[in-house]
Amino acid sequence: MGRVIAVANQKGGVGKTTTAINLASSFAAAEVNTLLVDCDPQSNATSGLGLVKDPERINTYHLLMGAATLEQAVRPTELEQLWVVPAHKDMIGANIELVDTERREFRLRDALGPWRDRYQFIVLDCPPALDLLTLNALVAADAVLIPMQAEYFALEGISELMDTVERIRAGLNPELNIEGVVLTMLDERTNLAQQVMAELKRFFGDKLCATTIPRNIRLAEAPSHGRPALLYDPRSKGAESYIRLAKEIIAHHLPAEEPAPPAAEEMGKSA
Ligand SMILES: Nc1ncnc2c1ncn2[C@@H]1O[C@H](COP(=O)(O)OP(=O)(O)O)[C@@H](O)[C@H]1O
Ligand SMILES: [Mg+2]
Repeated sequence: MGRVIAVANQKGGVGKTTTAINLASSFAAAEVNTLLVDCDPQSNATSGLGLVKDPERINTYHLLMGAATLEQAVRPTELEQLWVVPAHKDMIGANIELVDTERREFRLRDALGPWRDRYQFIVLDCPPALDLLTLNALVAADAVLIPMQAEYFALEGISELMDTVERIRAGLNPELNIEGVVLTMLDERTNLAQQVMAELKRFFGDKLCATTIPRNIRLAEAPSHGRPALLYDPRSKGAESYIRLAKEIIAHHLPAEEPAPPAAEEMGKSA
């Protein structure tokens, strides 16, 4: 069954979309079938993967409204094993339209349900708000990946998100885990970055991803070419760092190639 990872942080500009695009692309490049669902009306993940604006195209809005199936909504990308459900700016209205609907927080979960085993990873790019779109993503997800910048008050900024995760766990989605916290746009050489990293390590322990994402101009340029960094400039530090992050996450979840041999005791019994 596919693992659904919501990339969320209610703060804008922290690297959610860059992480969603490049992590999903790196999963696909590692030859695991991956789906990216753009849940943000700003549609930056959609355009960043080379899909031009098209209001007629079936998008995440239709999934949320139950007006289309996932199969009708998915589009191929330049990478053979990466598919995308695009977003559209009109989706902003979904926040209001959903308020009075049944199972309003479960819309995305219900839409993904029957198709989850087609993909090994499903990455959800969330908007910069703790709105119904983000709630739908967190309810649909197995885990949340939190991109953060290393700055003072970094922890204060995410307490609201952590509270939301706790509330969702207590009610709507008891299975929701923290996939990890990933530091983005990092300039490791600064004292500030070192101090903040140490603080986050104390707070998050092994939930703080070992891989960090450096500030890298290629990551900022790639979306305007409609390509993930690993196609735009595969040797760039940015592309490499997301490939490492994908490997780190894959190593946590996919079974190792060779299963461990049965314990000696077990073998004795069956002999
Ligand atoms: N590691 C990075 N190095 C350089 N620029 C980055 C990096 N990550 C993100 N950016 C740029 O920072 C801006 C905000 O990133 P984005 O991923 O759109 O954040 P969010 O989705 O959280 O709003 C974008 O212009 C993006 O290109
Ligand atoms: Mg974004």
